Amino acid sequence: MFERIARRYDLNNRLHSLWRDQAWRRQTVHLAGVTPGQTVLDLATGTGDLAGWFARLTPAGRIVGLDSCQGMLDVARRKFPEQNLEWLCASAAGVPFDDGCFDVAAMAFGIRNVAKPEAVLAEMYRALKSGGRAVLLEFAQPTSLPGRLLWWYVSHVMPVTAGVIAGDATGAYRYLAASIRTFCGAAELDELMQHAGFTGVRRHAMSLGLAVVHVGVKS
Ligand SMILES: C[S@@+](CC[C@H](N)C(=O)[O-])C[C@H]1O[C@@H](n2cnc3c(N)ncnc32)[C@H](O)[C@@H]1O
Repeated sequence: MFERIARRYDLNNRLHSLWRDQAWRRQTVHLAGVTPGQTVLDLATGTGDLAGWFARLTPAGRIVGLDSCQGMLDVARRKFPEQNLEWLCASAAGVPFDDGCFDVAAMAFGIRNVAKPEAVLAEMYRALKSGGRAVLLEFAQPTSLPGRLLWWYVSHVMPVTAGVIAGDATGAYRYLAASIRTFCGAAELDELMQHAGFTGVRRHAMSLGLAVVHVGVKS
């Protein structure tokens, strides 16, 4: 599915979020608290936007963007020539790194898309050093009245317009709303992080609760 929509993925993100998606990613980077020389693993990096913000906004030493879709990674590689960025085609459920390699493990709009979120959280935990932080940016279903109006737009308008822009009549953007609806809520995602071993789990809601950053620490 992501192979099909890779070419127009960024355009769709910008247009349909009214450019908020990049602000959500910047906030995620900010909450990761990267200090000079630290290492960052961005899982399900897609076209690399989150990894790119880590490169531009933090003094990280090494940033690895990992994704299982080569088409998305090809776009990422073209967009970001920064020397401390590396791109790797692999599964987030089997990260090809030794235990305790990274200071930050990040994931934007990825955990909802994997078959076994628990396995991916376990991999994030394993790949982190002690004291390392996991930051997950994910959609949630807003509950307030203005938030529910926003949700109506996401579930009824966006699938149609985004499908036209991506040239994808088969429904990748219908999948987006359906996957948010069926994925666990923000509180349950916090619990999954705790079950994976993360401590001090907290969350930061943005845009009426439509986008949420979850932060946890490997003690
Ligand atoms: C919605 S996109 C998010 C991309 C990017 N993180 C962003 O902020 O736009 C989800 C990405 O997850 C990737 N993905 C899905 N399952 C995966 C897995 N098991 N391992 C690695 N990447 C995966 C897809 O290829 C896709 O690029």
